[in-house]
Amino acid sequence: MFSFLFVVIVAVCYCSEENNPVFLGQPQLSGPSVALVKKPETFKCELPTYPQNEIVLFQLFMTHGAWLSESSSLDGKAGTFSLVIKTSHEGNLKCVARLQSDNSTVLGVSKLHYLKVIEPVAGAKVLIQPDEKEFFEGTPLKLLCNITAGTHVSYKWVLDEINISPSPNHKFIHDSLIIKRPTSKDNGYYACIALNNYNDSEYNSYSPEVKITVKDVVSNPEIFFSVLKVKGVKEVSDEHFAVVTCQSTKGTPPITFSLYKGDDLFASVTSEVTDATFKVPLVLDQHMGWLRCRANNGKETAHSQQLPLEVVRVNGPVMLHYDYDMGEDHAVIRVRYYCRAAKGSHPQYQWFLNSSLMRDPGSFYYVVNQPPEQSMLELSVREGSAGTYQCKVSDSFDNITFFSSKEQYMDKEVINRLPVLVVAVVFGCFIFLILLVSVCCWIGVVFRRQQFGEISMLGLDTWKRGPAYEGELDLLGYNEDDDLAKRVTGDEFDQASEVSLDEWPQIVEEKKTLENSSVEFF
Ligand SMILES: *[C@@H]1O[C@H](CO)[C@@H](O)[C@H](O)[C@H]1NC(C)=O
Ligand SMILES: *[C@@H]1O[C@H](CO)[C@@H](O)[C@H](O)[C@H]1NC(C)=O
Ligand SMILES: *[C@@H]1O[C@H](CO)[C@@H](O)[C@H](O)[C@H]1NC(C)=O
Ligand SMILES: *[C@@H]1O[C@H](CO)[C@@H](O)[C@H](O)[C@H]1NC(C)=O
Ligand SMILES: *[C@@H]1O[C@H](CO)[C@@H](O)[C@H](O)[C@H]1NC(C)=O
Repeated sequence: MFSFLFVVIVAVCYCSEENNPVFLGQPQLSGPSVALVKKPETFKCELPTYPQNEIVLFQLFMTHGAWLSESSSLDGKAGTFSLVIKTSHEGNLKCVARLQSDNSTVLGVSKLHYLKVIEPVAGAKVLIQPDEKEFFEGTPLKLLCNITAGTHVSYKWVLDEINISPSPNHKFIHDSLIIKRPTSKDNGYYACIALNNYNDSEYNSYSPEVKITVKDVVSNPEIFFSVLKVKGVKEVSDEHFAVVTCQSTKGTPPITFSLYKGDDLFASVTSEVTDATFKVPLVLDQHMGWLRCRANNGKETAHSQQLPLEVVRVNGPVMLHYDYDMGEDHAVIRVRYYCRAAKGSHPQYQWFLNSSLMRDPGSFYYVVNQPPEQSMLELSVREGSAGTYQCKVSDSFDNITFFSSKEQYMDKEVINRLPVLVVAVVFGCFIFLILLVSVCCWIGVVFRRQQFGEISMLGLDTWKRGPAYEGELDLLGYNEDDDLAKRVTGDEFDQASEVSLDEWPQIVEEKKTLENSSVEFF
């Protein structure tokens, strides 16, 4: 539409300036619509009718005005233009026909003809923005595919020779690949391929590979230590060290780990892995300050928690207790023994059956150490699991001194007797409670009766209304008015509460003995 208007306007302009209004119809411009650069191409401009005995001049222009070629035609019918195609020829072409004798007379202007110029791609190269080879995760990364030649180019990207497909994290914008939040997973060799085609032949240019390294920022390290004992020789006594480990879960090495004791730097080391160890002299059973790790690999410094540098030696008593699971037939099927030492920050547990060490895991048991609190031995109850169980605790760094738990005999019969006992105890407690409540109620009723009797002796006839229970309601009403009665009942309440208070220690004691007996069972 626009081009049509343009032509009309151009035609009208030319017509208006003409002194000889010869209008011979619109010339037709023909030729290829796609052309390869540096190749010769021919365009033709034809007039449908033409003036007799006149030489017609045909001119080829780009719409922005650049003159391309001209051709004179003796018969006035058509002009041909031979062009060696350049990239600048891309765009709209038009042909103008004039009289050669009077070149101000325009005979006609053609419609626009679009020419697309293909230049085969060449010289692809990856440019990185920002221009670095190493990045930290999270910094957006832009790779640009620069070419030295090529028009109408499309781009492909490969990482380690595998095509990269678009994803929320990988965006393709024309000649660029943008990685929004790069991580170490994006590491590798990148290359771009620039492509274009002409008449079924593909042109491509493969860039040299560029290595990209995205570094993971080091994560906050964990801090923990084990204890190392160095045996003294002759008069030199044993020495102990804390072997402190600072360990990050992620971070691209090299990482510099620093160990601080309080506010003071104890040591610093650059590691090629994600952890580092330090040897810190130690005095047992003494709090020697707080340890803390710092880690840095070029970005933010990561900090660990604080850890007290304190090693408490294992000490008794060693407690052994257990719980169990019951199967459908209320028989015990699994038993869990728990072993715990009264003291010790670095305990090491060993389990024994019939005095021989149990290697973990066994055919019917396994051990779960939950240091420093306790160790758990879980076993299934069956023929082979009968015997005497015991647990021993030593310091992990010094296995010469052991603290042992009581020995505990367990077999199918012994263990299955327990649930019956437990049921009996629980049932007993229940009965006892019912009795207790009944006794209390009974005592209450007796007291109420006594009280009721006294009050009626004061001349009240409320009891007439009914039995003692109803009387109590009236009594309350009466008490509001009568101080004396209030005092009396108050005393009685005190008495009643004294009685119940007296009863409490007994109950508590009885409960205690019950608990004790159950404790013994366990
Ligand atoms: C017309 O011809 C003259 C003389 O040959 C030339 O200078 C001029 O550029 C021509 N004009 C056009 C529009 O070709
Ligand atoms: C691409 O490379 C050419 C030189 O080959 C340079 O002139 C041009 O500025 C580069 N393009 C970009 C976007 O850097
Ligand atoms: C396009 O390719 C075909 C066959 O591949 C060939 O015959 C034809 O000449 C080519 N055209 C041009 C304009 O190169
Ligand atoms: C442990 O000793 C008891 C006898 O004291 C025996 O019945 C049991 O089979 C022994 N257990 C093992 C696993 O040897
Ligand atoms: C004590 O530790 C030493 C060295 O770690 C080891 O060789 C030895 O078997 C251990 N002894 C016991 C009883 O665990």
